[in-house]
Amino acid sequence: MSVVGFDLGNESCIVAVARQRGIDVVLNEESKRETPAIVCFGDKQRFIGTAGAASSTMNPKNSISQIKRLLGRKFSDPELQRDLASFPFRVTEGPDGFPLVHVRYLGEERTFTSTQLLAMVLSNLKGIAEGNLNAAVVDCCIGIPVYFTDLQRRAVLDAATIAGLRPLRLFHETTATALAYGIYKTDLPENDQLNVAFVDIGHASMQVSVVGYRKGQLKMLSHTYDRSLGGRDFDEALFKHFAAKFKEEYKIDVYQNARACIRLRVACEKLKKVLSANPQIPRLSFAGDGTFV
Ligand SMILES: Nc1ncnc2c1ncn2[C@@H]1O[C@H](COP(=O)(O)OP(=O)(O)OP(=O)(O)O)[C@@H](O)[C@H]1O
Ligand SMILES: [Mg+2]
Repeated sequence: MSVVGFDLGNESCIVAVARQRGIDVVLNEESKRETPAIVCFGDKQRFIGTAGAASSTMNPKNSISQIKRLLGRKFSDPELQRDLASFPFRVTEGPDGFPLVHVRYLGEERTFTSTQLLAMVLSNLKGIAEGNLNAAVVDCCIGIPVYFTDLQRRAVLDAATIAGLRPLRLFHETTATALAYGIYKTDLPENDQLNVAFVDIGHASMQVSVVGYRKGQLKMLSHTYDRSLGGRDFDEALFKHFAAKFKEEYKIDVYQNARACIRLRVACEKLKKVLSANPQIPRLSFAGDGTFV
């Protein structure tokens, strides 16, 4: 039986399988390497992953993303409170002090814990791995950030168990990156140490590690992180800029409309990607439906 690795992202997840002395990234049902970490609840069914992302703009209040941010954190946690302000879905404090996510599902008001939501994401990833391997997948390794607390680690393990997985171990994302680099680097020095720094800017957080390599050896020399700096902060800066501009020039308050907020965020993310590859943006104008023309 193969051991499968899950890279659990705040925005998207990746499934990989160890085979033929290497690591293969598994493609999802859309032939993509990345699967959105999202669960979208509907009146007739729920959509997870790629299907969830497709329906999220139509149904923002019932589309739950950024589950990794909610995981294993008390509702009163100031960092969580800051995150909640930008989420389009409703979250309240549960009886145990942890967040409860409110959705409308199958025509009823329902609440879910972040562990239950993560279990849904993981069972979708399990299905992707099984579809690719044509075999049942139970044993797995799951990547987590270095800064995860004991509670957050336990929540990941619980979610995996609910999804019918047996996590053999949780793996720091920084170590996984370093290992992947080391496996494929064939010219590592025998005696000297080659030091390499890895910078992982994710959707919501950033991790940096420095790793020392020798042939057949890997040593994690140091690591650091910022739990609240990631790609979404660039999106947010652009979002605030355009929201203020729309208010000033067109007297439109996008904050009053959850769907408009989502569309503007999607457009800002696209803009960021264009700007990260180009010194200037080609002449673009915002079409109002979240697209640039
Ligand atoms: N070409 C690009 N230019 C700039 N930013 C990009 C580009 N491609 C992706 N991003 C940004 O990277 C972020 C997603 O990164 P990644 O997939 O590593 O996050 P994640 O693993 O899901 O989240 P996290 O590590 O916080 O759990 C998003 O904010 C996305 O907008
Ligand atoms: Mg990541």
